[in-house]
Amino acid sequence: MGWRTSLLKDCRLLNILPAVLLLLPAVLAGCAEPKPVKSEIVKKSGLDAEGRPLAFSVFPKTAAGDIDWVAALKEGILNPKESLDPAGPQDSPILNLDIVFNLSDAYPVPNVVFPHAPHTLWLNCNNCHPSIFIMKQGANPVSMDRVIRGEYCGRCHGVVAFPITDCLRCHSRPKK
Ligand code: HEC
Ligand code: HEC
Ligand code: HEC
Repeated sequence: MGWRTSLLKDCRLLNILPAVLLLLPAVLAGCAEPKPVKSEIVKKSGLDAEGRPLAFSVFPKTAAGDIDWVAALKEGILNPKESLDPAGPQDSPILNLDIVFNLSDAYPVPNVVFPHAPHTLWLNCNNCHPSIFIMKQGANPVSMDRVIRGEYCGRCHGVVAFPITDCLRCHSRPKK
């Protein structure tokens, strides 16, 4: 009778053995490593509480709290290479040309200024001309609606450049 009971016991053990083996690594890991505290998780991920890279904290901010990339470049905090390819094409020159979009008095918002200078700090002429904007003042049927839908200025603003909600950064010239 002795050998029968012991076999039964062994069989029961065998039944739960796979589960024990499965859980073993988790149990051991839990024992070996203390749970990291929040600040450690943040440091390890390289992101702050809002999910932005920690390195972003050194950049100047706009009134709306976004990173002011143009100011960062002007202050020399950033110094981007002209191209990923060291032998790549030279950057376009900086163009000092402001284009004013005059709005009807029916709209209670200031006129829009498109400044070429800060754009050509970052971009080449052919990033915009002619695929996004025909190179002629007034030749493009831009409207706020189309910008919000991702056309014209909205190809970049709200995607890789400051968001559409920062109205007064574009609507920067009071009507006379
Ligand atoms: C970020 C986009 C963008 C970039 C980059 C850009 N432009 Fe423009 N450009 C515009 C917009 C917007 C207008 C105005 C279009 C309108 O009024 O419909 C314009 C208009 C022009 C005009 C017409 C001016 C007039 O009086 O009719 C010229 C010329 C021009 N750009 C030259 C350039 C050159 C040269 C470069 C590169 C050094 C350049 N642009 C880079 C967006 C850009
Ligand atoms: C091809 C991409 C692109 C298009 C199209 C574009 N922008 Fe920009 N814009 C940028 C980038 C990149 C910056 C710099 C990053 C930032 O400020 O977020 C910028 C910055 C600006 C600034 C800030 C300038 C400063 O001195 O701080 C203004 C104002 C602006 N854009 C207005 C416009 C308007 C108005 C249009 C449409 C008529 C437009 N942009 C179209 C990419 C674009
Ligand atoms: C990235 C630049 C940019 C930003 C940000 C922006 N606008 Fe505009 N907005 C424009 C341009 C360009 C036009 C077209 C100008 C024209 O009609 O020639 C325009 C036109 C308008 C018009 C005139 C009516 C129309 O539909 O064209 C109104 C009203 C307006 N915007 C309101 C706003 C408000 C409110 C915000 C913020 C929530 C805002 N805009 C943010 C660039 C911008």
